Amino acid sequence: MAIKEQIEWLRAELHRHNYNYYVLNAPVISDKEFDDMMRQLQDLEKEHPEYMDANSPTMRVGSDLNKDFKQVYHKYPMLSLGNTYSESEVSDFYERVKKALNEDFEICCELKYDGTSISLTYEDGKLVQAVTRGDGEKGDDVTDNVKTIRSIPLVLHGDYPSFFEIRGEILMPWVVFEELNREKEAREEPLFANPRNAASGTLKLQNSAIVASRKLDAYLYYLLGESLPYDGHYENLQAASQWGFKVSEHMKKARSLEEVFEYINYWDTERKNLSVATDGIVLKVNSLRQQRNLGYTAKSPRWAIAYKFQAERALTRLNQVTYQVGRTGAITPVANLEPVQLSGTIVKRASLHNADIIDGLDLHIGDMVYVEKGGEIIPKITGVDKDARILVGEKVTFITHCPECGSKLVRYEGEAAHYCPNETSCPPQIKGRIEHFISRRAMNIDGLGPETVDLFYRQGLIKDTADLYQLHADDIKKLDRMGQKSADNIIQSIESSKQVPFERVLFALGIRFVGETVAKKIAKSFRDIEELEHADLNTLTGIDEIGGKIAQSIISYFQNPVNRHLIERLKAAGLQFSRSEEDLSGYTDKLAGQSIVISGVFSHHSRDEYKAMIERNGGKHSGSISGKTSFILAGENMGPSKLEKAQKLGIRIVDEDEFLAMLS
Ligand code: IVH
Repeated sequence: MAIKEQIEWLRAELHRHNYNYYVLNAPVISDKEFDDMMRQLQDLEKEHPEYMDANSPTMRVGSDLNKDFKQVYHKYPMLSLGNTYSESEVSDFYERVKKALNEDFEICCELKYDGTSISLTYEDGKLVQAVTRGDGEKGDDVTDNVKTIRSIPLVLHGDYPSFFEIRGEILMPWVVFEELNREKEAREEPLFANPRNAASGTLKLQNSAIVASRKLDAYLYYLLGESLPYDGHYENLQAASQWGFKVSEHMKKARSLEEVFEYINYWDTERKNLSVATDGIVLKVNSLRQQRNLGYTAKSPRWAIAYKFQAERALTRLNQVTYQVGRTGAITPVANLEPVQLSGTIVKRASLHNADIIDGLDLHIGDMVYVEKGGEIIPKITGVDKDARILVGEKVTFITHCPECGSKLVRYEGEAAHYCPNETSCPPQIKGRIEHFISRRAMNIDGLGPETVDLFYRQGLIKDTADLYQLHADDIKKLDRMGQKSADNIIQSIESSKQVPFERVLFALGIRFVGETVAKKIAKSFRDIEELEHADLNTLTGIDEIGGKIAQSIISYFQNPVNRHLIERLKAAGLQFSRSEEDLSGYTDKLAGQSIVISGVFSHHSRDEYKAMIERNGGKHSGSISGKTSFILAGENMGPSKLEKAQKLGIRIVDEDEFLAMLS
C-alpha cells in the first residue's frame, strides 16, 4: 500500500475504534492493538508531514504549545434556559405551551447535565471549531482542547448535513474527578469543588496535552442548522448518534403532563447511579416547527424549561467549631454537628472553609444550620435558620492563634486561608511532614502509619524525618504494642528506603507545590540536589510545567537553613540525592551553559522531545527570549512576535536539522 493510503486507512480504522470504545462502549479490538495502530500512524505522520491532517486521530493527544484562546462570535447565540425548582411551574409551562400551540404536541424530556456547555461546528463531516458559551454572543475557541475528548467525533460517518452546529455539555465523570482531587490533595493544591468546575477549568487549560490526560466526556443535546433531517428534535438527535455523536440514551418523548412528572420522579433518585453529574431535567417542545411558533423571550426559548433538582439538605444543630492544622500549617475550621442523615450517610462534621465564609453566615454556637451535599464531596453549611434561634449562643469568630502550638496565625495576601507560620516546631506540621515522607508513593516505609508516627513523636524518638534513620530496633520494641518482629520490620523498611530514587526523595521532602509530577520533572533536569539548590528562578521556570509559584517555593525551601541542615543529615544517612548512573547515560555537555528557546511546529521530534534533548545535553530550555538566549530552535510557523524580538536582539535562529547536527 502506498504511504498515503496506509495513513488514510489507519486514520479511518482509529476513528472507527475510537467511536466503538468511547461512544458505544463496545470495543472490538484490544487496547494494545489500538495503541499499536496509533503509534504506527504517529510514526508515519512524523515521517511524512506533507500528509498532515488537523482531524487525524493523533490530534487527540494534544500539544504543549501554549496559546491564548481566540474569541469568536457564535453563529447562533447560546441562550440559557428558564429555571425552576417547583413542580407547579412545570405544570404552568405545559399549560402555556398547550394554549399557545392549540394543537397536539410532544415534550422531549432530557437529563440536565451539569458540566460546561460547548458549541461544535462541523463542515463536510469534519469538526472545524469548538467554542465555549462565553457571554452567549461570543466565546473562547477551544478547538484543540476539545479534540482531545475521545467521545467527540473528529470525522463523522453516515448521512450528515454538510454544515451544522451541535451543542452539548462537556463533563468530567465522577471517578475521574475523584481521582484528580486525590492527586491534587497529595500535591496540596486547592481541590475542585465539583465536576463542573473541574470540567470548565480543564477546558480552559493552555496545554492541551494535560487536557488529554484528564479524560473528559461529552453529551450532545441540541442540533442547529438549515438542513436538519427531521422536524423532531428527538429524531434529529437520534440521527446525530448515527453520525458518531454521543447522545444520551435517557431522552424520552412525553405526550402528557403525567408522563413528564413520571420522568422527573424517576430521575430524581435514579440519577445518583449515573457516571456523570446532573442537576435537573430539561423539557423541550419536540417539533422544530412548533418551537419556531413559540419563539423566544430576550434571554431564553419559550419552548423549553429546566427543572432543577433540590440539592439534598438537612437541618441540624451546630455544637462547636474546631480548627485543624494541616501539614502546611493551613487552618481548616470544622463545624461539629448534631449527627443528621443526608443522602444516605450520617453527617457529623462539615467544612466551614475559611474566616470569610464564617462571617458571611453570621454563625452562633447552637444555631440550627442547613447542611448540603450537592455536587460537593465534603458537606458544607449553606445557611442558618435564624427563626429557630431562641437563645443566641456565642458568636463564632475565627481563632487568632494556632490551637496546637499557640503561634499567632498569619493570612497571606490574596489567600483565603489562615496559616500557622511555625513550620519547624508546630506538632501537626512536623508529624504531617513525617507521614508524607514515609507514605507509599514517597519513601514507602512500611510498618509506620499516623499512629506510630504520633507515638514515636510523643516518646521523643523522632522530631524530623532524618531522625528516622537514627532509630534502633531496641528503642522501638520498648514501646506499647511493639514487639521485636515489628521493630525489626520497621528498621528493615527504613533501611530499604535508602534505595528509593532521587525523584521520589524529592517528592518526599514535602516542598510546597512539589507533587509527584513536578518532582519527576525536576529530577530529570538536575543531576543532583546541589544543582537544584543553586538553581535560580529563570532556570527553574525554564522547566516544563514549572511556573513562578512552584519555582519560588523551591527557592524559599532551600533558603531556610533548617531545611538545608535536614538535607545534609538525610544525605549522610545514605538517601539518593542524585540521578542514578543509568539515568545519566546519554548525557553530554554539548549545550552546557546555553539557554535555548523553542518556537514553532516541528516535524522530526515533538517539542517535549527537543526539551529533553536540550536538558540531556547540558543546556537549559527557556520560555522567553531575552538577552541571555543563546539561540532559538525554530520549527515551522514560528510566532511573529518571537521572530521580531529575536531579530531585534540579534539572536541566532537554528532549524531542526541544524540542531540535530549539533548534537550528533
Ligand atoms: S438545551 C436553548 N439540553 O443547561 C436551549 N441544555 O441554561 C439550549 N444543559 O447552557 C440548551 N443539559 O449548558 C439543553 N439536555 C440539555 C442540557 C442543557 C444541560 C445546560 C446547558 C445550558 C444550560 C441551560
